[in-house]
Amino acid sequence: MTNKYMYFIANWKMFGNLRTLNSLDSVIKFSNSSKKNKFKIIYCPPNTLIRPLSKRLKKTKLLVGAQNCHHNENYGAFTGSVNAKMLKDVGAKYIILGHSENRQSGETDKLINLKIKSAIKAGLKIILCIGETLNEKRKNKTNQVLAKQIKNCLKSINKKSDIVIAYEPVWSIGTGLIPKLDNLSKSISFIKNKFGKKSPKILYGGSVNGNNIAQLKDINSLDGFLVGGASQNSKKFIDIIKKTFN
Ligand code: PGA
Repeated sequence: MTNKYMYFIANWKMFGNLRTLNSLDSVIKFSNSSKKNKFKIIYCPPNTLIRPLSKRLKKTKLLVGAQNCHHNENYGAFTGSVNAKMLKDVGAKYIILGHSENRQSGETDKLINLKIKSAIKAGLKIILCIGETLNEKRKNKTNQVLAKQIKNCLKSINKKSDIVIAYEPVWSIGTGLIPKLDNLSKSISFIKNKFGKKSPKILYGGSVNGNNIAQLKDINSLDGFLVGGASQNSKKFIDIIKKTFN
């Protein structure tokens, strides 16, 4: 049983519509009734739902975040794109950056670094995703990859301790696979050590569900979880949160 302050990030990816928002009433009710456990729930829906969701969550403890942004901090001729200040304007407080689904379609550490800087400037809090691919893991390159992503994505950023890091092995996302617990503990310690005394909050993400949370919650160095698929179902999401504190 943990009495730590825990983060639960719901990454909805490209799922959800206005009707889906009704399903959050049970999560709001759950969060209001949970007096003894300390946690923060941040919903990151598609951009189309940020405004309606932030209105709906106004008098609740739940927060809203975005899933990505354009790197340009100013308005500009970038058809189809949205920048960090536009996301802030419609109610986002957090933003997920560096998700492997975006890295896989060409997003580099350098671009992520620009996005982080623009999002900090806009007043958003950052959730930076890092993690190795299966190939990198097989070649024993996990630490090397994590070190490089941390160094390059956070280049010239001062208050690194304000940034939430989500360790998400690429091979665990949406596959039902999670790392062996001792490997996961080692990766979390490795990430923590990269930051020295002022370590940021470190979350785990990748196939978190109501079954494996019983094992994952035993990793004391974790500050929470980034949940994809299971977060789209309020019952499953609440179950994960409840079991974290059991
Ligand atoms: P998953 O997604 O929980 O569905 O594996 C996690 C993520 O993409 O952040």
